Amino acid sequence: MAQCRLLRVCHVLVLALCVSATEDFDWTRNEKGSFYYGTFPTGFSWGAGSSAYQTEGAWDKDGKGMSIWDAFSHKKGKIYLNDTGDSSCDGYYTVKEDIRLMKDMKLNHYRFSISWPRIMPKGIKSDQINEKGIQYYDNLISMLLENQITPIVTLYHWDLPQVLEEKYGGWQNSSMINFFNDYANLCFERFGSRVKYWITFNNPWSIAVEGYETGEHAPGLKLKGTGAYKAAHNIIKAHAKVWHTYDTQWRSKQKGMVGISLSGDWGEPVDITNQRDIEAADRYMQFYLGWFATPLFNGDYPQVMKDYVGRKSAQQGLGSSRLPTFNPQEKSYIRGTCDFLGIGHFTTRYITQKNYPSIRGNSYFTDRDLAELVDPQWPDPGSEWLYSVPWGFRRLLNFVKSQYGNPMIYVTENGVSEKMVCTDLCDEWRMQYFKDYINEMLKAVNDGVNVKGYTAWSLLDKFEWDEGYSERFGLYYVDFRSKNKPRYPKASVQYYKRIISSNGFPNQREIESWKRKATETCTSSNQLLAADPLTSHMEMVTEIVVPTVCTLCILICAIFLMFLLKGRF
Ligand code: NOJ
Repeated sequence: MAQCRLLRVCHVLVLALCVSATEDFDWTRNEKGSFYYGTFPTGFSWGAGSSAYQTEGAWDKDGKGMSIWDAFSHKKGKIYLNDTGDSSCDGYYTVKEDIRLMKDMKLNHYRFSISWPRIMPKGIKSDQINEKGIQYYDNLISMLLENQITPIVTLYHWDLPQVLEEKYGGWQNSSMINFFNDYANLCFERFGSRVKYWITFNNPWSIAVEGYETGEHAPGLKLKGTGAYKAAHNIIKAHAKVWHTYDTQWRSKQKGMVGISLSGDWGEPVDITNQRDIEAADRYMQFYLGWFATPLFNGDYPQVMKDYVGRKSAQQGLGSSRLPTFNPQEKSYIRGTCDFLGIGHFTTRYITQKNYPSIRGNSYFTDRDLAELVDPQWPDPGSEWLYSVPWGFRRLLNFVKSQYGNPMIYVTENGVSEKMVCTDLCDEWRMQYFKDYINEMLKAVNDGVNVKGYTAWSLLDKFEWDEGYSERFGLYYVDFRSKNKPRYPKASVQYYKRIISSNGFPNQREIESWKRKATETCTSSNQLLAADPLTSHMEMVTEIVVPTVCTLCILICAIFLMFLLKGRF
C-alpha cells in the first residue's frame, strides 16, 4: 500500500520535472471517465466573453481617461515585446461587426466589461462623467438586445483609473470602496434598465496577487505577504457595498442580479490516500476560490487561511496577522451578497504538502505550505500555465456546490489559448478542449450543480495582459498586423455553434461528424489568411507609398517651375 502510494507520488514528481519537454499530446491518455451523451436543461445560456482593456483599443479617444493598464503597458519591459492594448482589436469601432459574429453563432449572451476610466476619466463621479463613453456602452447594449443577445456586464476587469492609483494607492486604499460604489451606481442608473446581470469584479485573485504581490500585472507592485491580502480585503468590501446599493436602490425597479466572477483552478491531492495531501489540496482551494467565496457566502475568510497566515505572522514576530479581519458588522454586511457566482476556470494542479520555513520571508504563496505539480501528459497547447484537464472542471463545480450551498453559477470564462508562430485556423485542440470541458460541465449539471450558463473565453484573440499578443484565446482569429484588424473564424467557431444548436451532445453518431465538418471550413480560411501579408503590403503601398511619392513629385515640379520662371526674369 505504502509502496503504491510512493510510486504514485514519484510518478507525478518525475513527470512534473520533465514538464516542458513534451510537445506531442495524446488526448486519450489522461481520460478520467467516459464521454457522456445528453443535453443541457432548456434555457441554458451559451455565450462568449471579452474585456474592455483586452479588446476595445481607443485607449485615449473620445475623452477616455488613463487606466493602470495604459500606464503599465506603456512602461518598457512589463509586457511581452512591449506590446500595449492601445488599439488591440479596435473593438471600440467594431460593435456592429462583432455582434454579427455573435449572432452567427446564435449566442444567448455576451459577457463584456465597462472601462471605468472611459466613463469616468478621473475615477471620481463628481469630477467628470464622459458622455461619449456612456454612449459607446449604451449603443453596445442596445445592439445586443436588438439581436436577442443578453448582456452580462462586468464592472471591473482590472482597468482602474490611473489617477486613483497615483493619488490613493489603488486597491491598497479603502477609499476605493466608495469610489467604486459611485461608479457602479452610475452604471446601474444609466444601463440598469437594460442590463440584468452585473458582475462586480472579474477574478479578484489576479487583481490582488498579480497586481500587488508579484507585480506581473498593473499596477506592478511587489508588496509581498501583505499587498494581496489588503487589496482583496478592500475588493470584498467594495463588492458587498455595490451589492447593497443595488439591493436597496435598484433591484425592485430593475429586477436584475449582482454577482462576482471568481477564478478557480482545481487542486487535486497528489495522493488521494494521504491525509496531508488532501489537506494541502483543500488549502489550495481555500486560499484561491475560498479567499473570496467564503466571505461572500459565509461572512468571513476560510478558517484555514486565518490559521495559517496568523501563525506565520506570529512566527515572523508581527503583532497581528497579515490577513486583515472583518468586524462582526462587516461580516453580516458581507455575508449573502452574491445573487449568482461567476466561475472562470481553465486548468488543474496536483497539490502536495510542503513546509516553508518562516525565514523564507512573507508571501501569499509560502503562506499556503504546499507545492503545485502538473502531469506532463496533460496537453498544454498554449499558455504555459494552462494544461487541459477536463475532469478538474466537474470537481471544481461540485466543490462550489458543496461548499457554498449550491449557488446559481454562470461559467464566466473557460477556454484555451495557442502559441503559434504561423497562423492555424484549424484549431483541433480547442475543439477537443471545449468538447471535453463542456461535457464535464454537463456531468456536473447532472450531479445537481446549479449551472445556468457557459461563456467561452474568448470571442476574439486579444491583448493577453503581460503576455501581450503572444497567446490567442479567441474563437475568432484577429489579424493584428492589418489596419482594420480583420476577424477570421477558427474551426472551433463551427464546433461551438453545433454544441449551442444541439444544447449539448445529443448522440455519438452526430458528434463524431462535428469535428470533420468544422475542419472542412477552416482550410479555405487558412489560405485566405496566408495571403494576408500581401494584403497588408498592398495597404501600405496605397496608404503610405503612393501619397508620399505623389507629394514628392508635386514638390519637385514646383521647384523645377520656380527655377524655370527665375531664368525667364
Ligand atoms: C482570466 C482573465 O480574467 C482573462 O482576462 C484572461 O484573458 C484569462 N484569464 C486567460 O489568461
